[in-house]
Amino acid sequence: MNLISIFDLSHAELEALIEKGEEQKRERKEGVRARNDLEGKTLALIFEKPSTRTRVSFEVAMRELGGNVISLNWNELQLGRGERIRETAKVLSAYVDAVMIRAYRHSTVEEFAKHASIPVINGLSDLEHPCQTLADLMTIKAQKKKLAGVKVAWVGDGNNVCNSLIGGAAITGMNMFVACPEGYEPAGEIVEKAKEMGCEVVIRNNAEEAAADADVLYTDVWVSMGEEEESEKRKKVLRNYQMNEDLVSVAKEDVIVMHCMPVHIGEEITEEVLSSANSVIFEQAENRLHAQKALLMKLLNY
Ligand code: CP
Ligand code: NVA
Repeated sequence: MNLISIFDLSHAELEALIEKGEEQKRERKEGVRARNDLEGKTLALIFEKPSTRTRVSFEVAMRELGGNVISLNWNELQLGRGERIRETAKVLSAYVDAVMIRAYRHSTVEEFAKHASIPVINGLSDLEHPCQTLADLMTIKAQKKKLAGVKVAWVGDGNNVCNSLIGGAAITGMNMFVACPEGYEPAGEIVEKAKEMGCEVVIRNNAEEAAADADVLYTDVWVSMGEEEESEKRKKVLRNYQMNEDLVSVAKEDVIVMHCMPVHIGEEITEEVLSSANSVIFEQAENRLHAQKALLMKLLNY
């Protein structure tokens, strides 16, 4: 089994992963040593672009579960000199037990999975970031004590993180309101799939309209990795989509503010909101570790 898209998981599988993540978090806090469930297993991490959270959380998760991990940068591999993905996938399948790949194009991750004979995890592509969604759902559930019926408002660029969150909402019964400028909407195919599953996905241009009465306010960078050339244009187009105190005030009083990180203070979020009592941003980052332990156990224990 792979995790390329959040839609690869059924409702039952997603719920089980969240529960397992909660268990892992509880046990780690109580000082219970994680069982060596993945002893003798090796995970390779391939990065075509930078990472702090994904890299460190996967490395620590694997080690704490008794397994081994190898982190590889694209340009250190022959991939950087033009070796094809398909041969790389076949060769690595003989050495390691699973691969996580962070790539510019979603098609790179799909191509890798197509030719690999081991589980492949999408560690972020231009289309999706399903591992982030696992941690986000775990965080929302902990804060709101439920997922179904929760109103999530996404404010800003309808990007990879937004796409996977829409999928997560569709699977778990949350409602998604997205506020973004024209041309910055989430992927049409994702929105369509979510709607087919009965999910309420409302897309607006006005941030306050989407954020009104929200239980969850979520934002992400205006310039994602790989979009640096459009940096100036994006900062102009997205400037009315900032997560600031005025915006937070239109949501429910107990709204939680989320961001997958890295944050760009003064762009998509203000310092005040980041450090406010509503912010659960560091809890989200921590939950990457616990949710990914659950994922690795599922994928590697076959
Ligand atoms: N949220 C997230 O994936 O962070 P990194 O880019 O640091 O891995
Ligand atoms: N949308 C951001 C997320 C970073 C974790 C990006 O793709 O750069």
